[in-house]
Parts: sequence; structure tokens; C-alpha cells
Amino acid sequence: MENQPLILITDDDIWQQKLIEVTLSGFGYRIITATDGETALSLVTQHMPDVILLDIQMPRKNGFEVLAEVKQNETTKGIQVVMVTGTEEKEARAKALELGADDFLMKPIDRVLLKARIQSSVKLKSYNDHLKFYQKHLEAEVDQKTQQLSHAFEQLKKVSLETIYRLARAAEYRDEDTGDHLLRMSNYSAVLAEGMGFDKSKREAILYASPMHDVGKIGIPDRILLKPGRLDLEEWDIMKSHTIIGAKILEKSSSDIVQLAEVIALTHHEKWDGSGYPVGLKEKEIPLPGRIVAVSDVFDALQSIRPYKKAFPIDETLAIMTAGRGVHFDPEVLDVFFSLLDRILEIQKAVGTLEIKENQDLVGPVIAF
Ligand SMILES: [Fe+2]
Repeated sequence: MENQPLILITDDDIWQQKLIEVTLSGFGYRIITATDGETALSLVTQHMPDVILLDIQMPRKNGFEVLAEVKQNETTKGIQVVMVTGTEEKEARAKALELGADDFLMKPIDRVLLKARIQSSVKLKSYNDHLKFYQKHLEAEVDQKTQQLSHAFEQLKKVSLETIYRLARAAEYRDEDTGDHLLRMSNYSAVLAEGMGFDKSKREAILYASPMHDVGKIGIPDRILLKPGRLDLEEWDIMKSHTIIGAKILEKSSSDIVQLAEVIALTHHEKWDGSGYPVGLKEKEIPLPGRIVAVSDVFDALQSIRPYKKAFPIDETLAIMTAGRGVHFDPEVLDVFFSLLDRILEIQKAVGTLEIKENQDLVGPVIAF
């Protein structure tokens, strides 16, 4: 009995109501009744009937008001409402249709028609319920799959980026075995990119592409790369070729990050005044990522010990950087560097104590790989 469809009969005419109730009970439906609009509405929210047989003329909210409230409420609008009207009420039928009535029954009520109307309304309601359930189920499944996919994508991205970083580190391993230079200069580059107005995804691209700037060093022999003294002209030419070797290693990639890394590898030793290498590009002929990495790479090199030099103290380093404004460095990028010097020094201090952190903002002030 509990599973039988529930019908709410609302009619202020007790005899009419009883007649319908007896008829429908005979067909096995469960019945609840109301003789006024207010009671009908409270029964609707309390019992969620499948079908409402609704009379128009009723005290305490008429049939139109009840109909409007049922159809405007998100949780009850799926209930099938069959309006019971007199033959003369054409306008009333039009109004009821506008308010969302699903079907009509004429007075005096015919038993056969009543049975047929209720049967089709119950069928429609059950079909709608099934559809709603299926849609909800489908939405939940889509949500779950989307989450799984985005998690898998994040994992894949993390692994690819870490692999890129570790390959870049392999190239640096002979002359700088801790990888700290890459951590520092890539984070400096991301900070400078932010200062130059790059949006988050471009800052992230620079962060991950810039560690590959010297990947071409893999092709430079130890006798040159690790030479403690000054390089002669021939050795220097070989040393300079690390830009072209790097670009060759990275060329023809379909990844945006690796494409950017190719540009950076090729152009990070170009100088603003055109005296850099390998091409001798000048000013804005040098792609902006190359101009950014030039600043962060030189700053970190000046602050570090290399086979051929000691680390410069900070005031001497900054004086050399300033002297390079408009000569070695893009003046605008250098101005941004000085305006963000606090953050640059913060990164310098923090590197070495960093670990890979889950879910951290990839372009925060300091980023670990
Ligand atoms: Fe380089």
C-alpha cells in the first residue's frame, strides 16, 4: 500500500470529494483530502502527493493560488495538478494553463475519465521522477569523473614539471651540484614577470621554463665549463654555443612551456645594447622572457661562487646591476628588479630550506620544485 501513488483531493464540496475518494480508493490509490487551499498546501509539503485533483472555488486560497504556489516551488513543481472545472469556465481553464496546470477534468466527473486522467498523470509523474533521479545521478557521476580527471591532470603536470626541472638540473650538475641556482633564478624570474604585468599562467610558464636556460651546457666540454681561469677566444666561442645547443635540444616541442624554454635558452645572453650573443639582438628585438632571465641569471651568478670567481657582496652586486641598466639589461626590467628587491632577497634567503609542497600557489613569493 505504501508504494501506491498518493492522490490529494481538494474540494470544498464534501459529497463531491467523497465520491472521488471512493472511486479512486477502489482503483488502489492512497488518498488524502483537503476542503480549503491552505490545508491543501500544507498537505502538499507534508506528504508530497503524486497527483493533486484541484477544485477552483475554495475558501482560504482558491485553486489558482494553490496551483501557483505548487508550480513555483522547486520541490513541488513536479507534482501533477489536474484542475476540476465546470463546463462554462473557459477563461478559468486558460488561466490555469498559464499557471502550469497539467490536465483538466470537467464537472460532473465521469468515473471512466477520472480513472484515465489519474492513470496518465501518475505515469507522467513517475516518468518525471525517474528522469530527475537519472539526471541527478548523472550529474553526480560527471562531477566525480571531472574531479578524477583534474586530479590525474594535476599529477601528470606535476610529474612533467618535476622531470623538466630534474633534466635541467642534470645539465647544471657539473658546475653547480645543488640545483639552488635554478631554484633561485626561476623564482626571481617569476617575480620579475609579475612586476612586468604577466598574468598567472604566463608567470607560471616562466617559472617552469627558466630552469632550462642553460640546458645546452650539456654540450660544453669540462675543460671549458670548469676552467678556473679566463677562457681564450676559441674557448669562449664554444662556451657561447650553449645557447644554440640549448635551443636545439628544446626545439619543435608542442608544449608551451618547452617552447618558452627554447626562447629563453637562445636569448638569455643577449644584451640590451646589442653586444650579447649568440645573435646580437638589440633592445626589444630580444624577447621579454629572455630580458627577464638575463637579469635574474646575472644577479644570481654575481651572488654565487663560480669556478672562475668568488661571490660578490650584495652592495657590489647591485652596483654592477645598476651599471648594466640600458647596456646589458632592459631598463624597465631592471627598474622592476630594484622595486621588488625585497622579494628577490627573501627568495635568496629561503632557497635551500625548501621542500616540494602539495597544493601550494605555484607563483607565490618562493616556489619549490
Ligand atoms: Fe647561460
